[in-house]
Amino acid sequence: MNGKVAFAVAFSLLAAFPMAALAQPQVLPQPRPVQPGEPQPVANAPALPPPLPSGPLPWSDKSLTADARADLVQAYMTRDEELTLVRGYFGVNYPWLPKGYSEAIRKALPGSAGYIPGIPRLGIPALSESDASLGVANGRHMRPGDQAVALPSSLLTAATWNGSLAYAGGAMIGAEARYKGFNVMLAGGVDLAREPRGGRTFEYAGEDPLLAGVTAGEAIRGIQDMHIISTIKHFALNDQETGRTTMSANIPDAAARESDLLAFEIAIEHGDPGAVMCSYNRINTVYACENDYLLNKVLKGDWGYKGFVLSDWGAVHSTVDAANNGLDQESSYSHDQEDYFGEALGQAVAAGTVPQVRLQDMVHRILRTMFAKGLIDQPVVKKPIDAKTDLDVAQRDAEEGIVLLKNAQDLLPITFLKRPSRRITIIGGYADLGVLSGSGSSQVIPIGDTQALEVLAGGAVQMGSDQKPQIPSGTLILDPPSPYATIRAQAPWARAVFYDGSEIAKATALARVSDVVIVFAQQWTSEGWDVPDLSLPGNQDELIAAVADANPRTIVVLENGGPVLMPWLNKVGAVLEAWYPGNRGANAIARILFGDVNPSGRLPITFPQNESQLPRPVIPGHYLAYSRIALEGAHSPFDIDYVEGANVGYKWFKAKKLTPLFPFGFGLSYTDFEFGGLSATGGATLNVSFDMRNIGKREGKATAQVYATPPGGVARLIGWSKVDLKPGETRRVTLAVDPRLLASFDTDAHLWRVAEGEYAVTLGESSAEVSAGASVHITASTIKP
Ligand code: BGC
Repeated sequence: MNGKVAFAVAFSLLAAFPMAALAQPQVLPQPRPVQPGEPQPVANAPALPPPLPSGPLPWSDKSLTADARADLVQAYMTRDEELTLVRGYFGVNYPWLPKGYSEAIRKALPGSAGYIPGIPRLGIPALSESDASLGVANGRHMRPGDQAVALPSSLLTAATWNGSLAYAGGAMIGAEARYKGFNVMLAGGVDLAREPRGGRTFEYAGEDPLLAGVTAGEAIRGIQDMHIISTIKHFALNDQETGRTTMSANIPDAAARESDLLAFEIAIEHGDPGAVMCSYNRINTVYACENDYLLNKVLKGDWGYKGFVLSDWGAVHSTVDAANNGLDQESSYSHDQEDYFGEALGQAVAAGTVPQVRLQDMVHRILRTMFAKGLIDQPVVKKPIDAKTDLDVAQRDAEEGIVLLKNAQDLLPITFLKRPSRRITIIGGYADLGVLSGSGSSQVIPIGDTQALEVLAGGAVQMGSDQKPQIPSGTLILDPPSPYATIRAQAPWARAVFYDGSEIAKATALARVSDVVIVFAQQWTSEGWDVPDLSLPGNQDELIAAVADANPRTIVVLENGGPVLMPWLNKVGAVLEAWYPGNRGANAIARILFGDVNPSGRLPITFPQNESQLPRPVIPGHYLAYSRIALEGAHSPFDIDYVEGANVGYKWFKAKKLTPLFPFGFGLSYTDFEFGGLSATGGATLNVSFDMRNIGKREGKATAQVYATPPGGVARLIGWSKVDLKPGETRRVTLAVDPRLLASFDTDAHLWRVAEGEYAVTLGESSAEVSAGASVHITASTIKP
């Protein structure tokens, strides 16, 4: 791919962003009070470096708190050093970078997202940033030849409903980042899947604040246990790509607190990320990276967040407003329209429009986080990654996050074929090359023999050849190994053939003479654009329908970024939702198809029957999306009213009494479970106990989900339990419910309010299935935000 050109285009578009001219209420943050025994912060940083004391640096004392150590460093910092820490460089040494990238800086750039020089005099290391959530990213081959283990998409990890797998994946990619010399991972995507056509839905953890918060939070915790910083992103309501730099997500405060912000709040509690990345978009007309309400009031005020806020690449629009309203670090000034936190910030501090205590607070937050997360005491040291062990982590994740959506007459697992010369025909989806991954800044160049395919505008690759303009051009990466190889290894007794599916007649002829057909279908999605609709691109729907007509023993394996429509569902025998399954995805698919693994994934997102069921049947602004220029740059600001409010995904379907194609929480197993014995005790808090029993013939993992409906409200997920059960085994489980999940946010009183009344509690296998129900009286209470 022509990475240089792509980046030059992206850069020129980013540089063309209109400036924000929005009035801001200015509430300035107060400096942190000095604690007993701590040095006084400097009133004004000196221009010349104060001489350092002889002996060990005072802040090397590990017994001090991170805050005290940061204060000690700050007492020795010059104004220039302070300004150094709050402004970053793009991390790849491209020739088109603007002036200001000195030779020394160019040499130091890590070949990834971003770089903030350190202060060697004070023993403060540079921040070397890599993208992130799915592995150490290397899209556009920024580090030629450097491979990393590609995790499955975050949406797949959410589909595991297993926080320990999210943690393990985080720890794995955190270790790889460390070994490759990075001490910051731009990970932790947790925007709710409010727009199922969203180009980055695959980078996020679904539509429910509890499930998404736990999944993202655990991944962040894993990363940071490797003594590096993880971000959480994109704060906030960056729920679609169309017009992502200009749109305003308009939503009442209470609805935001109960949905997207709650996902961030829960993830921050679980993972304690060192940094928060503010997003491109505006929220209620104010840009996220200069949004006093979001950054100062909610994040740093209500949630008491002590880390730092860094901007998305090109998301800064001002110096004074951004600094005073809560941005602590401009990530890549060359992506912004101006160098806002360079000289301009120094001048603003000198003029007093940005108080110097505010600059010191910015610096303090960055330094205290570096101490708190181990960047100073355990500096990164490059060494080779342990790919074999890391690939196993990716495989375990994939094996639990792939969802079995249909299995007519127990077509799966494929055991009936275990006789020589049985014919398995594998059709489409580049199944001879690898499994699909999502594109954009999160792109990992996986371990093994990667296939990179150019996609023409309109999506005219092997996915189909119709003329409908669908997607911009780009490069699609297929993660090895190929399903064709793993299926052949899994079923050496069979005659497995692959056909690319380009001619429907040929595919049906092959299907007719096969014992079983496995069609691989793909939906490619990417950062930067949303898919126009939920149909599989090209002629894949026709291909699947025709093949299934020819042979009902047709299994469809989906590799997709988010929900898709399935007009052929009644014709096919089985459907396996494999998402973007990562570097061992093909192994996981084969092991599930042939029964070595019992599928246990559950949908973290609703699959609609069609787009008319969505709050916005057409994505606002999407008419321009075929042109990336219109999408990214020249798109005039526009508003989207999030009419669904807090009722994202399944809550919308419940509120509107709509029946989806597949409900949130749904997924089948090769065994059967029974949930019962529900007891719910109310009063001031809600506790729920129930039995989970395997009533089938083989071992499997059950996921019992508990939903509560407050008086006059809509059902919401309040907890779940995933347990491995042997045939006949029963497990009793008790869950204590976080009262915020029962509450509404009262904006006037500025607190969460649990209403007094009868709450319906249901236990089930999904958001639509009810195995048992109870009604429980909950007394009124309030919770501070
Ligand atoms: C993305 C971020 C990413 C950053 C740096 C931006 O375009 O929105 O998620 O971390 O680039 O690559």
